[in-house]
Amino acid sequence: MAKENLGILCSGRGSNLQSIIENIESGNINAEIKIVLTDKPDAMALSRAKDAGIKAVCVNRKEFETREAFEKALIKELKAANVTLVILAGFMRLLSPLFVRAYEGRIMNIHPALLPSFQGAHAHRDVLAYGVKVSGCTVHFVDEGMDSGPIILQEAVPVLDGDTEETLAARVLKVEHRIYPEAIRLFAEGKLKVEGRKVKILE
Ligand code: GAR
Repeated sequence: MAKENLGILCSGRGSNLQSIIENIESGNINAEIKIVLTDKPDAMALSRAKDAGIKAVCVNRKEFETREAFEKALIKELKAANVTLVILAGFMRLLSPLFVRAYEGRIMNIHPALLPSFQGAHAHRDVLAYGVKVSGCTVHFVDEGMDSGPIILQEAVPVLDGDTEETLAARVLKVEHRIYPEAIRLFAEGKLKVEGRKVKILE
C-alpha cells in the first residue's frame, strides 16, 4: 500500500504532532509528514517539526484579509507538498466548506471531549462547568460543521473531584497521544470505511 502523505495543521504546542512524529519514526504508521502548517508564527509546533527535519511553514492568519484567502494559501501549500491526508492537531480554527471540499473525507481532527458533547474551543472548561463525571477524547473526520463529522475513535477519561482545566487536560492528553496515531494508522492501512455517520474499522 502506498504511503499516506500527511499535512499537519497546528496552532500551538504541538504535543499531538510530536506523538505522530514518534509513531512514524518507530514504524507504527505507514505515512510520511510532508509539511506542518501553523496559523501563528510563535506556535511551538514549528520548532518541533524543524527539529524532526520536517518542512514547517507559518501561514499567518493575520496577514490575510479573508478566511477564504487564508484557506486558499493553506490548500496551496498542502497541494504543493502532495498531501493526501490532512491532520488537525490543536488547530484552533473552523475550516470553511471551501477547505473541507478540497480534501473531502481526508481531514481528521482530535477533540478533547466525548463528542457530540462539549464541542468548541473550550471543552475542558465546559466539561468542568457542567459537572459531568466522565470526559475523554474523540478522533473524527471533518465535515462542514463544527466537531460534527463521523467518529473514528473515542476513549473515556474520568473527571475527578478537584480537577482543574489543567489537570483534566493533562489526563485527556495522554489518551489523545495514543488514539490519534492509532486512527491515522488505521486510515493509512485502508482500514476505515465510512458509511454515512458511521466509521467501520476493518480489523
Ligand atoms: C489538544 O488537547 C487538542 O485535543 C485540542 O487542543 C490541544 C492541542 O494540544 N484541540 C481542540 O480543542 C480543537 N477544538 P497540542 O498542541 O499539544 O497537540
